[in-house]
Amino acid sequence: MTGQPDEPVTERATAGFTRAYGSQPAGLWAAPGRVNLIGEHTDYNDGFVLPFALPRRTVVAAAPDSGRRWTVWSEQAGEQVSFGRAQAAEPGRVGGWAAYVAGVVWALYEAGLDVPVARLAIASDVPLGAGLSSSAALEAAVLTALLDLGKLDVPVADRPALAQRAENGYVGMPCGIMDQSASIRCRPDHALFLDCRTLEVEQVPFDLGAAGLALLVVDSHAPHRHVGGEYAARRTACESAAAALGVPALRDVGTDQLDTALARLDDPVVRRRVRHVVTENQRVRETVELLRAGRLPEIGPLLTASHQSMRDDFEITVPEVDTAVEAALAAGAYGARMTGGGFGGCVLALVDRAAAEPVASAVAKAYAERGFRAPTSFTAVPGPGARRLS
Ligand code: GLA
Repeated sequence: MTGQPDEPVTERATAGFTRAYGSQPAGLWAAPGRVNLIGEHTDYNDGFVLPFALPRRTVVAAAPDSGRRWTVWSEQAGEQVSFGRAQAAEPGRVGGWAAYVAGVVWALYEAGLDVPVARLAIASDVPLGAGLSSSAALEAAVLTALLDLGKLDVPVADRPALAQRAENGYVGMPCGIMDQSASIRCRPDHALFLDCRTLEVEQVPFDLGAAGLALLVVDSHAPHRHVGGEYAARRTACESAAAALGVPALRDVGTDQLDTALARLDDPVVRRRVRHVVTENQRVRETVELLRAGRLPEIGPLLTASHQSMRDDFEITVPEVDTAVEAALAAGAYGARMTGGGFGGCVLALVDRAAAEPVASAVAKAYAERGFRAPTSFTAVPGPGARRLS
């Protein structure tokens, strides 16, 4: 198990900027990756989610540019990309990792904002493709930097929708609003209870340390399998089910109406998808109730039930994540579940602080027995959302 990473990422972004542009940045901005405690595939159903920000983050060193092209250097990609207004105006013209940056410029223009031309250098310690929202961290960091550089007064509550629009409209991924909200609106020691319809938030105290607990995050390293297509297929199934049931979104089906709703749907696959979303929304509400009451260990069974629902009803887990959950539970975790969009990524396990190491070892042992690539684990503490660092 590794501890929290050291934080040379700020220095790496600054050094990258100086190397790429031969001058000092005007400032540094950071936005975190996230772990979703519970509430999976509920965001695009107008439902409820409960993420918190990781201390791992993406840092942007930036300065205004008097020219007409945005220039971005990325440490992870090991390259520099530049694009002008015309490329930013047309989704698809900038591809790869830089599409997330051009997408933010595009979304700001679309919102009628006068985006400043800038030079940017990006470094990150959010693992890529691990289901910890590295894309939202990149979008949120770039968005925060550009808004500040341009002195554009956009309320924090309105920012996640701009970052989401970059991803939906420019990058072409039909994600919901959870990840961008988490990266922008989360606070240390709290989980963010977000109503994805009204965008109202409640900062729910989630002080693991005070409760003698730890949240172990296990990166399954499972290769992503058809992630984009499967995600879009789940979303379409949910939206068509809502239409068939005559409701604006599956959020409008309560657990007390579930049996009646299921009886009206012919397709057994769609029935399972609906059951996941409806029961998951209820689990989020129950988790929030327990956190408000300071009964942290009691959320364990809800986490595990969420995993079972993702495995059996939403069908988005893979053997690696199921194995991690089973091994964590067998080693004494209060609860465990996959977090994020699915088909790989990370598992979280709620454990007594002293049990973090043995549970991580138990998962590693189970992986070795099944011949899976060794997982990596770390303990996560809720950190701050996107902000200017200097
Ligand atoms: C991805 C998406 C989010 C959300 C989750 C599943 O992370 O970006 O909008 O739908 O999957 O909960």
